[in-house]
Amino acid sequence: QNEIYTRGMVHGILPPLTTDPNKLRLQAKKVMREEAYNYIAGGAGEGATMDANRLAFRQWKIVPRMMRPNAPRDLKVTLFGEQYDSPVLMAPVGGQEVYHKEKDIGTAAACAELNVPFIMSTLATSSIPEIAAATGAHPRWFQLYWPGDDEITASILQTVKAAGFAVLVVTVDTARMAWRPADLDTAFVPFVTGLGNGVGFDDPVFRRKFAARSDGATPEDAPVQAAGYWLAEAFTGDSYPWERLEVIKRHWDGPIVLKGIQHPDDAVLAVRHGVSGIVVSNHGGRQVDGAVGSLDMLPEIVEAVGDKTTVLFDSGIRTGADIFKALALGAKGVLVGRPVMYGLGIAGKAGAKHVLASLLADLDGTMGLAGVKSVADLSQASLRRVSYGG
Ligand code: FNR
Repeated sequence: QNEIYTRGMVHGILPPLTTDPNKLRLQAKKVMREEAYNYIAGGAGEGATMDANRLAFRQWKIVPRMMRPNAPRDLKVTLFGEQYDSPVLMAPVGGQEVYHKEKDIGTAAACAELNVPFIMSTLATSSIPEIAAATGAHPRWFQLYWPGDDEITASILQTVKAAGFAVLVVTVDTARMAWRPADLDTAFVPFVTGLGNGVGFDDPVFRRKFAARSDGATPEDAPVQAAGYWLAEAFTGDSYPWERLEVIKRHWDGPIVLKGIQHPDDAVLAVRHGVSGIVVSNHGGRQVDGAVGSLDMLPEIVEAVGDKTTVLFDSGIRTGADIFKALALGAKGVLVGRPVMYGLGIAGKAGAKHVLASLLADLDGTMGLAGVKSVADLSQASLRRVSYGG
């Protein structure tokens, strides 16, 4: 923050991207291909859950404390045995090549420079080795869209493990894609544009099975058909029965995190099935339209399982104050999706980094002004629930 003011006032150098989270979306809209922007910005149905995600944050207010020594702040967290400089993680986001040519590896490199975990999506448009290289020595996280075919699942997990990925995030809220009008109207899904998919297309078992059903064709020969087959595997349309978690456990011995938990009873079931963590998330309002705001469920879930598993949070984080609130309500870390993708769309890796660094500076500043020295000191004592009615 100080750097931005100093550069601007002394040298007249202004930030290339706006630092206002609401204007950021509009800045991205101006420069991005229309369908790509719509895919990122859009949600399910009429956007009621996207709205609820933001409104949920408005119901909690920070109550600042004064005259407490609190510098330097300590934003460090430990997740699954690894220490990170801050509680912010990059949410898994598919299709990044469509948003900017610097794509997933650009975002991953930006994250590595900030020691922010980059969660690689199953629908990444870079390969597993490319992402592994871009993350350097930093811990690697992989998000699984869980194929219906156990053999393909096992093969992908084996590749991911061999590439040194440490944490597996299994997304459980997307057995199928929701009704998303902005994409339906233009019949657009970034991973079926023929760009291919760095995870599915490279997988030997997937390739063998695709060849068997397509007269020996490779995904490179018939990218659109291969993408269709791959998507049908990744989004089977069936929900994932708890018993099938055993398949994943058999092929993954590291931490397993279930992403997309909203009900406290599901959080309890997750603990009972022995997972290491959950992400309280409604997929950024992209799945069940009319669903409750994600933050609205966080306190109940923390109450139910907060001492038994690592609770992470996403959906609607836009500012440092939002991160402050989610942590104060018991999350151990937060994932950020759209804002970083707007940054990537505007200015590639540098844009993604600008957005993440701005969020971290904003969080640091908010903690400072509110009289909180470390992430560990954040608690509900810093918040009040306020409703203005209407
Ligand atoms: C997503 N999200 C997502 N989640 C996942 O598990 N795998 C994926 O491939 C994707 N892809 C994806 C694409 C785009 C364009 C968006 C915006 C989101 C969901 C993502 O991980 C996260 O849950 C939300 O983005 C969080 O909400 P905010 O921060 O965007 O409000």
